[in-house]
Amino acid sequence: MDFVMNIIDRIIPKPSFLTIQDGTFILDENINIIYNELLINESKFLKNFLGPPTGYKILLKGEEERNSLRSNSIILKLSEPSDINEEGYHLQITKENILLLANHPKGIYYGIQTVRQLLPPEIESKGVKPDVKWELPCLTIKDSPRFSWRGFMLDESRHFHGKEIVKQLLDYMGFLKLNKFHWHLSDDQGFRLQIDKYPDLTKISSQRKGTQIGGLKSHIRWFKKICTEPHSGFYSKNEIKEVVEYAAEHNIEVIPEFDMPGHIESVLAAYPQFSCTGGPFEVATTFGIKKDVLCPGKQETYNFIQNILNEIVEIFPSDKVHIGGDEVPKVRWEECPDCQKLIVEEKLTDEAALQHYFINKMAIYLISKGKIPIGWNEVLQGGADLPEKMIVQHWLRNDNEVREHLEKNRKAIISKFFYTYLDYNYYWTPLSKAYNFDPIPDDLEKKYHSNILGIEAPLWTEWVSTKDRLTWQIFPRLLAIAETGWTKKENKDYLNFKERLVPHYNRLDILGYKYAKASENDPHKLKRILLPFNRFREPGFT
Ligand code: ACM
Ligand code: ZN
Repeated sequence: MDFVMNIIDRIIPKPSFLTIQDGTFILDENINIIYNELLINESKFLKNFLGPPTGYKILLKGEEERNSLRSNSIILKLSEPSDINEEGYHLQITKENILLLANHPKGIYYGIQTVRQLLPPEIESKGVKPDVKWELPCLTIKDSPRFSWRGFMLDESRHFHGKEIVKQLLDYMGFLKLNKFHWHLSDDQGFRLQIDKYPDLTKISSQRKGTQIGGLKSHIRWFKKICTEPHSGFYSKNEIKEVVEYAAEHNIEVIPEFDMPGHIESVLAAYPQFSCTGGPFEVATTFGIKKDVLCPGKQETYNFIQNILNEIVEIFPSDKVHIGGDEVPKVRWEECPDCQKLIVEEKLTDEAALQHYFINKMAIYLISKGKIPIGWNEVLQGGADLPEKMIVQHWLRNDNEVREHLEKNRKAIISKFFYTYLDYNYYWTPLSKAYNFDPIPDDLEKKYHSNILGIEAPLWTEWVSTKDRLTWQIFPRLLAIAETGWTKKENKDYLNFKERLVPHYNRLDILGYKYAKASENDPHKLKRILLPFNRFREPGFT
């Protein structure tokens, strides 16, 4: 029984319903995968991760052969269990077989990920592990997610990490049953997308001369340091297509973000005519909020942004595009004759209303292209006539505005920074705080709960220049977020989660990913309160 308890205590996110039966299933060299034609991708995925560490030559067999095979099979089957949605699955492990049922290939994929988690961590090895016994407990699992939006955001403007790292993250997202990859591809420090109509967006906007280093404390003048090594990178359209297809194989939707009208200095460095002052500008080498933003007072600005959006909507198949809208200083607009003229002509009350006017126009434009716009919660300021379909991503304060939005039966994704931002160190956002956060606010009436699509954890990369730092920030907090996104609130328990994390640390070791260890990821409260400087501490590597 100890073996069984150890094994079931490793599934993250925790399944909805699990019962244990007597006995175990042993995966040996006679194993077959039986699949239905609609599940060819899922069966190949299963075969591809079982093959290398077991060294078994696994055969894929069509359903018609099922009757001639008595045992030793993993059977993938589309049926219609009525108690789960399209991402849910039923898993039945007996001494003879593993049977996986779902309504949709997505559910089969998630069931396969559960089987992967039930196997010893060595299943992640690239090479054969002949000494490992590939044993699974007999059990029944019925499982489906709490939220439809289980997301991770990567900022590749501040640091460009490239498609190989992105694919590794997508793999891990699939493993954790996360399904939305929000790709922050533009900001003051770099624009990372090939746009054919504006080649200078790659020639100029994707490169910067240097980078502020030293972490949060470098925002204090005396500690400010710039590394003078240039930093550059962008994704060609072919690479985007490759990443989007790879994500789709893992049931992950890729949502691009083109942040506007602020966080756009890299774009203005190449096209200063769309600012209020005309520039000149450089791609930012320092962090923090920049005063120079797009000029909404000029008609050409709208044409320019719409031309870029035209290419973005073509490259990304998702029906959603994120247009940012966060942290927009208004000082340039206050001094700009074009902006002031527009405020008068459109009878806008102030610059906040001008921001609303701009976002609204872009949101309506995207809707005309068949896309749902998403914006950070500042888009709720300055006016109340956003398109009904627009999704708001709640990161910063203003709970009342977001509640009003939800009470109008509009949708939101929750990314409250104190709990979900993966760039914070573990003193600010310890694992327990990330885990115990619930995206549904206590004061939201039940009838509006379904307007919260789910949870998303962003990783901003100002201080994240290496893969080691990247994975250290992400792991293990992303596992906590994944559990909040998938597992029913009443089934969550932090102490139990910490126990289930132990074999996940072994997996991360095998994959060679650096992560915050149990001794680092949940510092004692006293250390967090009494040593406030800990909050600005960087990890011992960069
Ligand atoms: C944000 O963190 N500026 C959305
Ligand atoms: Zn202007």
